[in-house]
Amino acid sequence: MTQKIISLAIILTFVFLSCSDLRKKMDESQLIEAKIDSILVLMTLEEKIGQLQQLQIKKNMHDSVCDLVRQGKVGSFLNPGNLETRNRLQKIAIGESRLGIPLIFGRDVIHGYRTVFPIPLGQAASWNPELVRKAARIAAMEASSEGIDWTFAPMIDISRDPRWGRVAEGCGEDPYLTGIYAKAMVHGFQGNDLKDPSAIASCGKHFAGYGDAEGGKDYNTTLIPESELRNIYLPPFKALVGAGGQTIMSAFNDLNGIPASGNEFTLRRILRNEWNFDGFVISDWDAIIEMIMHGFCKDGSEAALKAIKAGVDMEMVSTSYMNNLAGLVNNGELNTGLIDDAVKNILRVKYRLGLFDRPIAEVPCENVILTADNLELARRLATESCVLLKNSNQVLPVKEPVNRIAIIGPLADAPREQLGAWSPDGRPEESQTPLAAFQALKDNRKYLYAPGLQSSRDKSTRGFAEALKVAGSSQIIFLFLGEEAILSGENHSRAFLNLPGAQEQLIDLLASTGKPLVGIILAGRPLILSDIEDKLDAILYAWHPGTMAGPAIADLLLGKSVPSGKLTISFPRAEGQIPVYYNHRNTGRPPSEVHQGMIPGDPVNPVGHAAFYLDLDYRPMYPFGYGLSYTTFEYSGLKLSADTISMDDTLRVEITVKNSGLYEAFETTQLYIRDLYASLTRPVRELKGFQKFGLEPGESRKVVFRLTAADLAFYNYKGELLVESGDFRVFVGKSSADVLEAGFYLK
Ligand code: BGC
Repeated sequence: MTQKIISLAIILTFVFLSCSDLRKKMDESQLIEAKIDSILVLMTLEEKIGQLQQLQIKKNMHDSVCDLVRQGKVGSFLNPGNLETRNRLQKIAIGESRLGIPLIFGRDVIHGYRTVFPIPLGQAASWNPELVRKAARIAAMEASSEGIDWTFAPMIDISRDPRWGRVAEGCGEDPYLTGIYAKAMVHGFQGNDLKDPSAIASCGKHFAGYGDAEGGKDYNTTLIPESELRNIYLPPFKALVGAGGQTIMSAFNDLNGIPASGNEFTLRRILRNEWNFDGFVISDWDAIIEMIMHGFCKDGSEAALKAIKAGVDMEMVSTSYMNNLAGLVNNGELNTGLIDDAVKNILRVKYRLGLFDRPIAEVPCENVILTADNLELARRLATESCVLLKNSNQVLPVKEPVNRIAIIGPLADAPREQLGAWSPDGRPEESQTPLAAFQALKDNRKYLYAPGLQSSRDKSTRGFAEALKVAGSSQIIFLFLGEEAILSGENHSRAFLNLPGAQEQLIDLLASTGKPLVGIILAGRPLILSDIEDKLDAILYAWHPGTMAGPAIADLLLGKSVPSGKLTISFPRAEGQIPVYYNHRNTGRPPSEVHQGMIPGDPVNPVGHAAFYLDLDYRPMYPFGYGLSYTTFEYSGLKLSADTISMDDTLRVEITVKNSGLYEAFETTQLYIRDLYASLTRPVRELKGFQKFGLEPGESRKVVFRLTAADLAFYNYKGELLVESGDFRVFVGKSSADVLEAGFYLK
């Protein structure tokens, strides 16, 4: 019966369309709109509201859920659990509900599905959007094979605060780079054709400003001036919309006093009106009813009203829409037009995804999970994500005659931990640990193992004696340190960012042996390394590298691959230095070389007034864009094509990069600009381009960038996009702090 009504409506639409010339002119999107309209006229208010509800599937799925589906009171589920449950519900939706509208099933497929890739912050450090796109494609293929239609990713919140546990999920502190990754991930998840069974809809989250949580406490207040919102926090979302991202998640945070899930300014004015977003907006989990707690709404009814007015189309988990929208319409407080718009936005995405034509998910003929190709890509991305922070005396890679290696530390063999936060489908038994990878090598080296500590938070020194023994009979120590997966991610902010447990003591103990000591750090955020940096001869920052952590790290330490990762978030020297980020403003009293901090407790007599701390170097521990290689790169011959350009010109920026060392390796050349004076003060550096390429020893390459006026534009405090004439500096180099520079004038 249900299918018949819809089919009849669609047939009538087609009859009408084929009778007119319009049909010819109609492209696919117009056809979809016509289909949506033909369904909308058939829908009761209750059915419309049903489309706006997303529910969670609990383990013991109750009959009540099936009844809700039957009655057309649910539009979506998150976390279907498995293909059978998903299809069972879908069959009820298409076969037993009055209109047979398919459900859409979402899940957090954040950095892989069964094949787990590095955490997004690690992926970003690869500076390789093409690899990141491929990883998202694999994640989509794996997830869709188990009935997932939609992922709540990418997370593209800019954050400057590593205390915030969710820095792990994003791409770091730069808006331009995050925008590039947003686009890459949308293309990966959604593929070339949304209708393809392996495509899943993406969801840009969390809109907006969530990453600026005060003090790095998750869910905390954010106060962001409009210019900063538009220049720093919104560009990745704009890029995602431009790339065809189908959904957006409204965030938990209070943004300038208006919670993000009731924020008409960001959701309606910017997202819909300025960017013409035509997909749908889903609230974050309970974010609508949390507006009561925020003190923005008195009850669920007001929360529902404010959210729908602001432009939230679908409600995740909480049921304020289900419980209140009909009442609000009936008492005249809410115009049904707003509900219709929300339904249309949701149906549009369901159509685009092909859910009406192919509602039942099928297992692909060929296995797509954890294939050799998937694992190979995971290994490559993990390799390119690792950042070499220090390498004294070229202790790495390990060279002959070193053939007795101690593998120590709580993260050397922690298959679950290396997967990182937000990897619900990753399985420890499928992840390859560093210890396992070394032991699987059939080389002539001896690998001796002692964990030293049971976990990263272990405070007991019981395992130290064994660790010391193993270290004593080795020629070099690989010490696997860091944070367990659970210490980062949502709701896992930390006030102290040192290595937890007794790890620092373990470093002290092993450093006392005098053997070369290599720290491999697996973590979900930048940790504070000031107290341990000089005790380690080399530091490889591996983030949480995922399923293939072991083989990737072994390749790097043994020199089968060369590190090429570079940081996309600045590393602070101490918690008290946070926020520290490269694209800060200059201030009227910028610090200089002399402001490198004094010994704590020294008499207070600063060398000149400046924005700095008496007791700390003003610079970050490691700057944005930083990362070493086993080889060396020399930069020379920075040339600009002109001293002065006009608004329509393109400036050509050229530099020569030479591999002056002994290893074939990848380098990422970065281009930054600075607008020296403007009607709104501008950052001291802004990334505007980068190129990653390989060079053999001795080989040189001319790297060319092009800048136009659009690259120099910024939003002023009124929200206007401006390009102002004046003097600019261009910086090109290895990191935000290691550059050659030149200047030009824009007229
Ligand atoms: C998180 C979202 C996530 C959602 C669904 C929320 O708690 O903030 O990022 O997508 O849960 O799991």
